[in-house]
Parts: sequence; structure tokens; C-alpha cells
Amino acid sequence: MNFIARKRIGILTGGGDCPGLNAVIRAVTKTAWAQYGATVVGIEDGFEGLVEGRMHEIQDNEVSSILGQGGTILGSSNKGDPWHYPVEMPGNRIEIQDCSYKAIRNVQRWALDAVIAIGGDGTMNISSKLMENGVNVVGVPKTIDNDLAATDLTFGFDTAVSVVCEAIDRLHTTASSHHRVMVIEVMGRHAGWIALTGGAAGGADVILLPEIPFSWESVFRVVKERNTRRKRFSIVCVAEGAKLPDGGQVIKALDEKRTDARQLGGIGAVVAQAIEEGTGLETRVTVLGHLQRGGSPTAFDRVLATNLGTVAAHCACRGDHGVMVALRNNEIVPVPIKEAIAQLRTVPADNQLVRSTRSIGVSFGNETADEDSRHDD
Ligand code: F6P
Repeated sequence: MNFIARKRIGILTGGGDCPGLNAVIRAVTKTAWAQYGATVVGIEDGFEGLVEGRMHEIQDNEVSSILGQGGTILGSSNKGDPWHYPVEMPGNRIEIQDCSYKAIRNVQRWALDAVIAIGGDGTMNISSKLMENGVNVVGVPKTIDNDLAATDLTFGFDTAVSVVCEAIDRLHTTASSHHRVMVIEVMGRHAGWIALTGGAAGGADVILLPEIPFSWESVFRVVKERNTRRKRFSIVCVAEGAKLPDGGQVIKALDEKRTDARQLGGIGAVVAQAIEEGTGLETRVTVLGHLQRGGSPTAFDRVLATNLGTVAAHCACRGDHGVMVALRNNEIVPVPIKEAIAQLRTVPADNQLVRSTRSIGVSFGNETADEDSRHDD
């Protein structure tokens, strides 16, 4: 009689949370159970749980009714890099240590045939290192920022864009009532996809991205011109990672426990103050922050997450390891994790939506006075 050992698949969610994570967990677990009779082990709080051995076998009731639930039932963390692990020392001192041996030992203790790691660039980098150390990993891309080059889209992005669009719709009515400039700061560390797409969907007048250097003169000119010759209000949508004309990004805090120590945030207030001083127009700022990451995923994100989760489960159970599942031309395909982390997907200068929004007069803060005057009525 042939004895086929049941596969044991670990699953974790790493980095910032994102709408659709639970849809992936559900899809992975149900596929692994139904198609392979596998056991699925939920690793708690991302790589923290792998280092500390906090994990449990997932039960049926855990993955029921979670498709439309935001967040992650497993918990997540962006402080759990096993090679850069914050260890509490006497006197409340934190020491960064290499605890990767603990993570690898726990994979062996729990007899995991493979680990499915759902995360962004940080998680994929760690996954790649785990692979080099003999752990079988399958990656699932996740980030509201949509900045992973290897996949056409990441789930969570569509939900975040919907939140931005709704917020800008709401800002329009109050901006026009009070004839104000409204600055809205949205997420996007390295890439401006959320600002571009949410700003375009909401009808922002100025969109500032990390990829397109802007000048104060250009922003002031557009806002003043709108105030005198068009509508007496303006909406400025700025990505948190956009770079100021005279410096770098605006960093809110540094936390060495995080995989990426820099916590961005605050550029909205800087832009609003500059506009008020530079134009004399009353200006207000709204920081959307984690509203973009919370709550129920859109139907699109649930479907994308389900497709990614099922293919990840097939890869993990069939032994197709060292890959990240990616959306390419409407198909989910495995791509080598190394390829997946090689490049960020930033907004190219000739992107279609950049061209379309420019055509209808949206400013990216880098136009000359001549270019702006072409949009005059
Ligand atoms: O990468 C996703 C993201 O939401 C970024 O857009 C943002 O800069 C970051 O996470 C915020 O992380 P945290 O929730 O840890 O402050």
C-alpha cells in the first residue's frame, strides 16, 4: 500500500495589512484542504510568529465568513524580519539580532513542507532569504501601494483607490462651499499609483507623485489661476512619498524595529502651508492614512485575492516552490521570487493615466507657465 504523507502548509501575512488578506487565507486553506487533504498551519503576526513559534492548525470555523472581512485573521507585523529581529534586553533596551535560526527551526518543528508568505517587497525579500536557507516558500503579493514590478496589480489597491475617490468627492463639496484649497495626503511610499489613480477618479486638480519632481511655482500658478479664472477651489492630491522641491521625503518617525525604519507622513501639511503662504488662499489638509487600508475589500480585490490564493495553494502542495504568484495578462502565473523582488513598479512618466489626466488639464506640479496656459478656456 502506498502511503502518501499529508502536506503541511504554513501561511503568514507580513508587513502592513491590506483589504483582501483574509480572502487569500480562505482560498489557500480551502484549496489545500479540498484538493490535497493538506493541513494548513496559521503563523501568527507575520514572521514574528515564525521566529517565536506562535502558530496553530487552522480549523474550519476560522476561515468561514471571512471573504469580505478587512485586516487579517492571522495578525501581521512589519517588525519581524528574522535577520533583523528586535530583541528586548534588560532596561527596556532593544537589540537587533539575527534570529533566523529560530525561524528555520520552527519550520522544522512544525514539519512544514512549505510556507505561503503573503506580503509586499519586505516580505518577499525575507522569503527569498528563507529559500536560500532551505525553507520552501511560495509568495503572494500584497500591498495597497501596487508597487511590485512582477505583478500587473496587487489586491488591496482597488479598495484603497475607492476610499481615496470617495474622500475627494466629499472634499469637493466643502472645498467649493468655502472656496478653499484642499490638500489630501494619501499613501504610497515609493510609487504614486494610489495618488494618481485615486486623484484621477476623484477629479483632483493637482496630483503630486514620488516619481515626478514638482516645483512650488507650478503648483501655486495652477491653484491661483483656478481661483481667479475658473472654480474658486482646488483639490491637491499628494502621495506621502512625494519629494519636496528642496529636499527629500517627509519622514514622520524612525523606528529601527521596522523592516523599513522610515515612517512616512506629513507632506500634506507641508504642501498646505506652502500653498497658503505662496498664494494667500485659505488651505486645509486631510490625511487619509490607514482608512485606505482598513475595512472590507472591493469585489475586484476579493476576486483577485481568491485567484492568487488558490494558485499559491496549488504551488505549495505540488512542490512548485521559490515562486511568487503574479497576475499577468489576466492569468495567475508563478514567477521566481528573485525576479519578483528585483524591481519596484513605479509610475512611468509616459503612463496612460498621466497622459490622460494631463490632457484634461490636471497638473503634476512640473508644467511650465506656457504649458499651463494651453489649458486656458
Ligand atoms: O506599504 C503599505 C503602506 O500602507 C504604505 O503606503 C505606508 O507608507 C505604510 O504601509 C504605513 O505603514 P505603517 O502602517 O506601519 O505605518
